Amino acid sequence: MATPKPSVLIVCLGNICRSPMGEAVLAHVAKERGIDIHVDSAGTAGYHVDDIPDERTTATCEKHKVPIEHKAQQVVESHFTEFDYILASDNANLTALNQIKDKLSNQPDKPTAQVKLFSSWDDGKPIQDPYYGGMDGFETCFAQCERYSHAFLDAIIGDRNKSSL
Ligand code: 4NP
Repeated sequence: MATPKPSVLIVCLGNICRSPMGEAVLAHVAKERGIDIHVDSAGTAGYHVDDIPDERTTATCEKHKVPIEHKAQQVVESHFTEFDYILASDNANLTALNQIKDKLSNQPDKPTAQVKLFSSWDDGKPIQDPYYGGMDGFETCFAQCERYSHAFLDAIIGDRNKSSL
């Protein structure tokens, strides 16, 4: 039987800046490296549910020739059994995710996802929220997403030769 492909949910606060960019970059890097994974993203807050990504997120991805298509969603309990990895953009979102995971641990549908910082396999730094700043914050976010995607894939799969990013 074929091994099921790894599934990853990238999480930030609003799901319009950092995590849809993380989703797009991880999916793109994995595709270039010939790695079959399922990637999605969500926010710990629901302010922007159903919104498309922030135009600065889209512009930054387009500049780097990374396709992006997403509608914002909020994290739900079923994500904790649906995904192998739930990767937080920063420590505030990691704390919020671990609170949900702890609560679910006493329930019949126990959480199976590994909840970690996206940067866990690299420098362990948070991705700062670029929402209230300029385009430089989005470029920094993109560079971090690229770096953390490679480090994550190195850890779970290996072979980064094929990517141009
Ligand atoms: P994100 O950025 O968490 O990277 O999507 C934000 C987007 C919107 C808001 C905060 C952060 N907001 O407060 O509306």
